[in-house]
Formats: sequence, structure tokens, C-alpha cells
Amino acid sequence: MTEALIGLGSSIGDRARWLQLAVRILDADPATEVIACSKTWANQPIGAALGRFLNAAVRVRTHRSARGLLSLCQQVEDRIGRRRARRWGDRTVDVDILLYGNMNRRGRDLSVPHPQMLNRPFVLIPATEVASTMVHPVAGQTLAQLKPFDAAGMVATGLLPQPVALRRSAKYKPRAFSNPTPDRENGMKIFIDTANIDEIREAHAWGILDGVTTNPSLIAREGGDFIQTIADICELVRGPVSAETVSQDAEGMIKEGRLLAQISEHVVVKVPLTNAGLTATRALADDGIDVNVTLIFQAAQALMAAKAGAAYVSPFLGRLDDIATDGVQLIEEIVTMFGNYPELGTEVLSASIRHPLHVSQVALAGSDVATIPYKVLSKLVNHPLTESGNARFLADWDTVPNNDIVGQVTAWLEKNRS
Ligand code: G3P
Repeated sequence: MTEALIGLGSSIGDRARWLQLAVRILDADPATEVIACSKTWANQPIGAALGRFLNAAVRVRTHRSARGLLSLCQQVEDRIGRRRARRWGDRTVDVDILLYGNMNRRGRDLSVPHPQMLNRPFVLIPATEVASTMVHPVAGQTLAQLKPFDAAGMVATGLLPQPVALRRSAKYKPRAFSNPTPDRENGMKIFIDTANIDEIREAHAWGILDGVTTNPSLIAREGGDFIQTIADICELVRGPVSAETVSQDAEGMIKEGRLLAQISEHVVVKVPLTNAGLTATRALADDGIDVNVTLIFQAAQALMAAKAGAAYVSPFLGRLDDIATDGVQLIEEIVTMFGNYPELGTEVLSASIRHPLHVSQVALAGSDVATIPYKVLSKLVNHPLTESGNARFLADWDTVPNNDIVGQVTAWLEKNRS
């Protein structure tokens, strides 16, 4: 288990209640135990926030990886209803990892220790209350040594539920989630499986695209400049874009991966599930680079990739179906397995999708992502009954007198406003 320190903040509504709720949700996680809670502290707002922030800190012991703990923090924010509109705007609750053991890493989505924790008395003061002896791995000093002397404007306002009370009220804490935990906020993420910029542009215009996967075959099919293609896709989609390494040894994969990651913050480095791929995954993940481990054909391979720190695993359904093996069953197995070990924090990215039925099947299985070729994406939209139904509506509409919607509605609004 790893000890971690989590900072909480709230600036709107019943702030004390949101912080208390956050502690309870963190502690309800089967892989995490709250071991100390600070008081709540009121302090001056930052930026555009109107109300006064209420801050606190909790120390936890967790089986989750840092990425898994980040995902738990995001779940807490989502469940309590954080507003994500403005960077420094009012927020229901903010839940940030401040320290995770001795981890020191800078990444796009995960930077530990929290880069701002030492500049902010409203973070450091509650943090020191619960973790005075924890060492800040960059400063090399304990929080007690780092605690700011100037705490002007801060006042302790109340208590959070203490661990003893949490233990008493915890009627039942399951050992592990019994259900898979895909991203419920936006449903299953849709990636397009292509390197064709026109296809990507069109799917992006539909407003449904979360990311893109490419592979050496898809890049070869398009011709053109590989690096520029990846850069253009990242610029357009601004979501995760998988770019695959081709070296077969770990050293080469790591080198290629580190370079590919510099093309854009959106690049996800793709490596094959081999021994070298696992070594490279661990090294790249430790650098804060997201890795998609591809060519997965059995559940245990997915487990290996997740253990090595993969952000995504790509099981190939269609190619299993091609050899008379149930591809969807593999997705179900991996989703269930990852649901048993939420601390892994790896997303299941269903790949090698061949037809619309695959898409609904992997969504039913709880896959986090489906990467879909353009041809299949189009079939998800087009249906002969939709087309014929639409044609019939139009034909009937033609028989309606004065059927110009814009003209008629505008005239009606003007008449009824005056
Ligand atoms: O991106 C990898 C994957 O989706 C490959 O699909 O159709 O070549 O098996 P397919």
C-alpha cells in the first residue's frame, strides 16, 4: 500500500458538506483507506472565484497506482458535481493528489508532487496537519519544515469526519468493485481507427470524436509524411492520438516513444504486447507518457500491460472472430478483470472493430473506448429505414400549406412578442 496526501477545496454551496462528502467517497473506495483528516480552513479566493474557498487535506493508504488514485479523485469530483467551466472559477469540489509516496513525476494529466503545493498556504497548512512527517520528494524536507509562517487570512472553521467515525459508519465496504467502471460521464469514448485526415475531419465534424488510433499499416495506407500526419491529427482532434513505435527492442521503443510524445501533448505512444513492450511501457509511463499497449488477444496479456502502467490496452476483437474465437468475450473478461482491480486505472480500448454490432456489444460489456474504422462509423449513422422515413416525412411536409419553418416561426414570434 502507498501513503498519499490529497488536497480538497470548495468555493460554492454548502462547502463543508462537499468536503465531508468527498472524504466519505474516498474512504468508500475498496482500495483506499482514509487515515487522517485535517480541519477545514477558510481562506482568501483566487482568481475569479466569488466566495471564500474552504480547504482541507486527507492522508490515505491506497492499493491504487497514482493514475488509479487520480481517477478516483476525478470520480469524487464528478459525483459531487464540480463545474469545469473556468480554471479558477467557483467549484463545488476540487480533489487533487498532493503527494503519492516518494513519487516525483511530471506528466500531462498527473504531476506529483502537486506543482503548486508549496506556494499555497491554504494547501500546505491543512496538509501539514495530517502529514507533518511526510517528505516532499523535490524539496527533500518534511511538510513541517516547509510549512509557511505566513498564514494570514486563514482560519480553521470545522472538522471533517475522522477515521474512527468513518470506520464505525462503514456498514459494508466491498473488497473490490463488482461492476466495471467505465467513464460514465460521457459514455464510452469513440475513437476513429484511421490515419486518413479527411475521414478524421468528417467524423470530428459530427461532434462525437474523442480520439484517434493509428498503426503502421494505417499510416502506410495513406502514404505522406508520418510525423506531419500525426501532428495534424492532434491539432484537429485535441484528444488522445495513438502513434505506434516500430522498434522491437525496449531501448528502441523507449527512444521512439519519447520522441513521438514530443510531437504533441495529445500523442499516446503505442507499443506491442511483448516483453520489450512491457519494459518500454513501464519506462514511458514513469516519464508521464500515456501508453497504449496493442495486439492483445488474451485477458492475461491485458493484465500484464496494466501492471506495467499502460494507460490503454487494445484487445483486437475482429482478428479473434476471424479465427473463430469470440472477440467480444475477451472484452468482457478484461473489463471484469479491471473492475476487480480498480487501482490499475487502465482503460480498455476495443480495437479491430468490424461492424456496428461490435460497437454496441463492447459498449454493453463496459469498454471504456471503442476505436472504429470510418466505414463502420458511417454505418452507425446510416440506416435504410432512417433514410426512407426521412423521405416520407419530407414528402408529407410538401403537402402542408405555408410550410416555410423559418419564415412562419419568425412571423409568429414577432406577432406574439408585440
Ligand atoms: O488499430 C488496430 C486495429 O483496430 C486493427 O484492426 O481491422 O486491422 O484487425 P484490423
